[in-house]
Amino acid sequence: MSFLYSMAESLNAKQVVETGVALGDSSLAILASVSKRSGGRLISVDRPYLRFGSEKHVGAAVPPHLRNCWELIREADRSGIGKALGRLYPLDMCHYDSDKSYSGRMFGYSRLWQALRPGGVFISDDIQDNLAFFHFSETVQHKYFVVKSRNKYIGFIVKRATDRSYIDDTRG
Ligand SMILES: C[S@@+](CC[C@H](N)C(=O)[O-])C[C@H]1O[C@@H](n2cnc3c(N)ncnc32)[C@H](O)[C@@H]1O
Repeated sequence: MSFLYSMAESLNAKQVVETGVALGDSSLAILASVSKRSGGRLISVDRPYLRFGSEKHVGAAVPPHLRNCWELIREADRSGIGKALGRLYPLDMCHYDSDKSYSGRMFGYSRLWQALRPGGVFISDDIQDNLAFFHFSETVQHKYFVVKSRNKYIGFIVKRATDRSYIDDTRG
């Protein structure tokens, strides 16, 4: 059972946004959970690929019976995350696995965090790449947790029930 599936199950997650899809393994894990709940939805953001012919592989792991709970936004994070949050808000869970640069992460992390409901869970893949995840947890003054998964590390932060960074409108 995957970490993402288990986390979505433990949250009873209905509203999830992820960045970074590739073949769709993470999308499949999240959808396997959210699709069990009435109104459960996942919106995924992944930029259009430059190489012609690879487009049809994006999200290929997601089977037809889960696609009615799923929306794929083919845009870069800078525009795609805002669009996703304009359609799905607030979030029970979010998963960041796209632009791994420090600045890319800081942009995506803060947008997703603001849309996360109190008690919701923020997850980032490959946190070993740079210090962005650790600096972000300091900025939002929350404890982080780290899970080792084969040769990489996944970080997550549980948003406190009393957190004030939850805002009512991240759109636009
Ligand atoms: C590691 S893969 C995602 C893997 C997927 N989450 C999984 O676990 O199966 C990273 C993906 O992020 C996407 N990506 C990289 N930079 C991006 C950006 N700035 N905006 C949107 N997507 C981006 C790439 O196109 C690629 O498909």
